[in-house]
Amino acid sequence: MTSPLLAALRSEPVSHTPVWFMRQAGRSLPEYRKLREGTQMLDACRNPEMVSEITLQPVRRHNVDAAIFFSDIVVPLQAAGVDVEIVPGVGPVIASPVRSRADIDALPGLEASDIPDITESIQRVTAELGDATPVIGFAGAPFTLASYLIEGGPSKNHEKTKSLMVSDPEAFSTLLGKLARMSATFIDVQLGAGAKAFQLFDSWAGYLCREDYENHVLEHSTAVFDALSGHDVPSIHFGVQTGELLGSMAQAGSTTVGVDFRVDLADAATRVKPGQALQGNLDPALLFAPWEALSARVEAIVRKGLELDRGFVFNLGHGVLPDTDPEVPGRVVDLVHRVSAEILGN
Ligand code: CP3
Repeated sequence: MTSPLLAALRSEPVSHTPVWFMRQAGRSLPEYRKLREGTQMLDACRNPEMVSEITLQPVRRHNVDAAIFFSDIVVPLQAAGVDVEIVPGVGPVIASPVRSRADIDALPGLEASDIPDITESIQRVTAELGDATPVIGFAGAPFTLASYLIEGGPSKNHEKTKSLMVSDPEAFSTLLGKLARMSATFIDVQLGAGAKAFQLFDSWAGYLCREDYENHVLEHSTAVFDALSGHDVPSIHFGVQTGELLGSMAQAGSTTVGVDFRVDLADAATRVKPGQALQGNLDPALLFAPWEALSARVEAIVRKGLELDRGFVFNLGHGVLPDTDPEVPGRVVDLVHRVSAEILGN
């Protein structure tokens, strides 16, 4: 039987609404914090035993319909030879930012042979989960990765990235083309090892206006989906603050579009392609609200999601916040399952 997640991502019928949470693995779980003690983030990401355990922790605890592969969007950069570190409380920091044509030409590519640990990690997880719970693979989208490389770390305004984009569009395109191949290789390895779907994270795309997104970014994200089309697996294209970009992002080739919490699901449905599934979009901050208020909002999103005439996957509008009570996501999962099964008559 197809899993509810895989069916919903393809807009096929389901018996209940599937649910998973971005950043379901990680700091909100005490068992994660304990396991990570004394290990750097990127070292943890390259250790198959740790990766498989961390990937499984939220599945055990929350009864979610999918596991998200525990890794990071900068792992392929690191594996290719870029000097990058994830600084706690800050994010990825690049030792030598990529700013000139020469820097871009010197950026190494990623080969599947650079990441045998990724294959081993996914194989361990799929061996544990069997067919019941699919593993979602992922990578960062070319623009989001380019922003980290050009800015040298997290950026509020992305000014160096945008400056290169408009002053030397050809160099910018070369860089995003290289990053698209890197992301495609990273996902290809995950799918080859048993991941059953994937999400492309374009976390910073929402900082662009639609014209710049369409002229400088869309073709490179499309290239990632094109490169993986042979796997015939469902896929999700997600970004933050992308309400104005949803119609463009929907064209890149995913079966599903991720919607952040600022956009009404019914509005999102009018912006994407007919029959294209949606994923979202509870505000992660609402996981801190009293249950009565939170549960009303969860129910409302489930009802709205099931009225869309297309597949719907319940998720947050962005990742689980680190201070979230680890008991709450599981309660949300139970409620989504119960309410959606009732509405669907199951
Ligand atoms: O559970 C999951 O969602 C899977 C694991 C996952 C991580 N990062 C683990 C992680 C995924 C899918 C990502 C993607 C990622 N990484 C994105 C795109 C998603 C998004 O949030 O928009 C981005 C922008 C990054 C870059 C990054 N890595 C940031 C901004 C941070 C946080 C830095 C901090 O300390 O606040 C990281 C580190 C990171 N990646 C952590 C986790 C669990 C926290 C580090 C830790 O636990 O020490």
